[in-house]
This record gives sequence, structure tokens and C-alpha cells, in this order.
Amino acid sequence: MGKKILVLTGSARKDGNSNRMARAFSEAAEAKGNEVKIIDTARLKLNFCHGCETCYKTGKPCSFNDDFNTIADDILAADALVFSTPVYWYSVPSQIKAVIDKLFSFVIGGKADRFFGKETALICCCEEEDPAILDGVRIPFERTSALNKWTVVGEVLVPGVLSVGDIDKTDGIAQAAALADKF
Ligand SMILES: Cc1cc2nc3c(=O)[nH]c(=O)nc-3n(C[C@H](O)[C@H](O)[C@H](O)COP(=O)(O)O)c2cc1C
Repeated sequence: MGKKILVLTGSARKDGNSNRMARAFSEAAEAKGNEVKIIDTARLKLNFCHGCETCYKTGKPCSFNDDFNTIADDILAADALVFSTPVYWYSVPSQIKAVIDKLFSFVIGGKADRFFGKETALICCCEEEDPAILDGVRIPFERTSALNKWTVVGEVLVPGVLSVGDIDKTDGIAQAAALADKF
């Protein structure tokens, strides 16, 4: 049966390497009968998590109103979350980090029943050739998944891509499309 898959992208480069892989994944997953939605975090107005622990207490996910509140229901409704992002300074870009930080609201705000237990996957790329560079994203992703009782169904990790179009010199697009088979 088709699943609801939400893809969260982290790059502001619309045709950049991680967005191209996200689209390849999404097209393949849709072709398999899944319902796929891409949310481009770089196009959202996002603030940081204040750690105030008042999530949902004022009737909205984050008490500091921003676009996280417009996507929170999509996140809760998804059977699977796919994160597609470049490495920025051995971590993730601030726009997708803001969304990841605000996932805390589901735990604090009593939504764990809909937030825990999803399937998840990671698509990630970076400039440097050393695959260990991707650990700065992969390891937090795996720890976050474990804490949230998410099942990691796959990871596409592509080093050695810097500029828009570099992904075509790798098998990243094919790997991202093949990831759809795992859902
Ligand atoms: C602000 C910034 C920080 C970056 N930091 C790293 C880094 O720490 N290590 C690395 O290998 N690549 C780094 N990169 C390169 C990107 O990961 C690389 O260009 C990637 O292909 C961009 O993906 P995109 O096309 O999806 O935006 C950085 C790029 C930017 C713009």
C-alpha cells in the first residue's frame, strides 16, 4: 500500500545536488504508488528553537509563530520522513536545522504517538572526497532516528560534489531513485 512520504530538503540551490537527488527519489517513490510531498526548508521563514517548552500549550506547535507551524501537521501525518541536505560546515544548513530542532515540539507537546515510529531515510552530499565528512550529518540523523523510534530504511551519502550539476558525475541520482524501493 502506498505511504505518505514527506521529503524535507535543506539546500537553497533549487537545482543543486541534494535537491536533484530529492526529486529523483520523489519521482521514483510516486511511481511506486506513494504519496510524496517535498517541503523546501530554504523557502520557509524559520526562527530557531527557544527551548521554552511551551510547545502546543498556546494551541500551536511552536509558541514563536513561524512557518514551522504551517508544516507541523504534514510532519505528523507522514508515514515516512526523508531528509535531503548538503553538508554545511560538517553539519546541516541552518534552515533544515531549525526544522529539526523544532521537531522537539512533538515530544514536549504530547504528540509522540503520531511522531514516533515513522520510517526515515537520509540523502546527503558534500564537497570533500572523504566519506567520513558525511558523518557529521549521518550520526546525528541515526541518533535522532533511534530516539524517535524511527526505522532507518536507507542512506544515500555522496561525497565529492561541489557545484550545481556535479551530482551528474556520480551515481547519486540513481542511488536516490533506488532508495524509493526500500519504502
Ligand atoms: C556554507 C557552506 C558550507 C559548506 N561546508 C562544507 C563542509 O563542511 N564540507 C564539505 O565537504 N562541503 C561543504 N560545503 C559544500 C557543499 O556541501 C557542496 O557544495 C554540496 O554539493 C552542496 O549541495 P547542494 O548543491 O545540494 O546545495 C559547504 C557549502 C556551503 C555553501
